[in-house]
Amino acid sequence: MKTIVYAHRGASKQAPENTMPAFDLAYQIGADGIETDVQLTKDQVPVLIHDETVNRTTDGVGFIEDYTYNELQTLDAGSWFSLYYRDTKIPTLEDLLAWNQDKHLLLNIELKTNVIHYEDIEQIVWEKVKRYDMINQTVFSSFLDESLVKLRDINQDISYAFLTGRKRKDLCRYGKHLGAKGLHIKYRLLNQQLVEEAKKHQLYVAVYTVNHPMAIRKVINHRCHALFSDTPDIAIHVRNQIQR
Ligand code: G3P
Ligand code: MG
Repeated sequence: MKTIVYAHRGASKQAPENTMPAFDLAYQIGADGIETDVQLTKDQVPVLIHDETVNRTTDGVGFIEDYTYNELQTLDAGSWFSLYYRDTKIPTLEDLLAWNQDKHLLLNIELKTNVIHYEDIEQIVWEKVKRYDMINQTVFSSFLDESLVKLRDINQDISYAFLTGRKRKDLCRYGKHLGAKGLHIKYRLLNQQLVEEAKKHQLYVAVYTVNHPMAIRKVINHRCHALFSDTPDIAIHVRNQIQR
């Protein structure tokens, strides 16, 4: 099995992260999947943006939860990256799902629930993915364990992964306890022992965020299930050298 290449926030080294141009580029490059981050607007629309505020990646200021969807649409989420992308909008989760209907890319929807409490985000996001019939190609993840438990309670068939950047001895046991299908771990946590232990626990291992060819090579050589890269073009190139 080849290591799956997820474009992290889309092809985010070449286009503004978590925007339709970044997703488009990832598709053109040949990425297997898209990783994206979801937050909720004031009027409960799931939108794709990494930070809890719009400050870093738009021309606005303030928290997503204080903006309605219509208000968010007045912001420019492209110019901070390059003027070429001026007036690019913050996409909704639905924009991505609709776009993916004829592309069938894998999706990793990361619920950004570890900073702000978004009431019912798990249910809202699940409903959207279900409506677009993309359950089978989607894996959910969150740094907040509670969100994973909520997903499990919504539907037993939801695939979700335990997402962590923190070292802990009982990582696999804990992930399994939460009902996760896999571990999405920060690159610095990757080692042979963990890979073997995960296998014993029937958990897949996916690694974020790897952009340098040496790091990408290490993930692939450990036979990890997937990797997340801001540079999916490099990841695919390296993978093609190792796995044919
Ligand atoms: O889901 C993997 C990775 O995206 C987690 O970290 O901060 O880039 O969303 P972050
Ligand atoms: Mg993320």
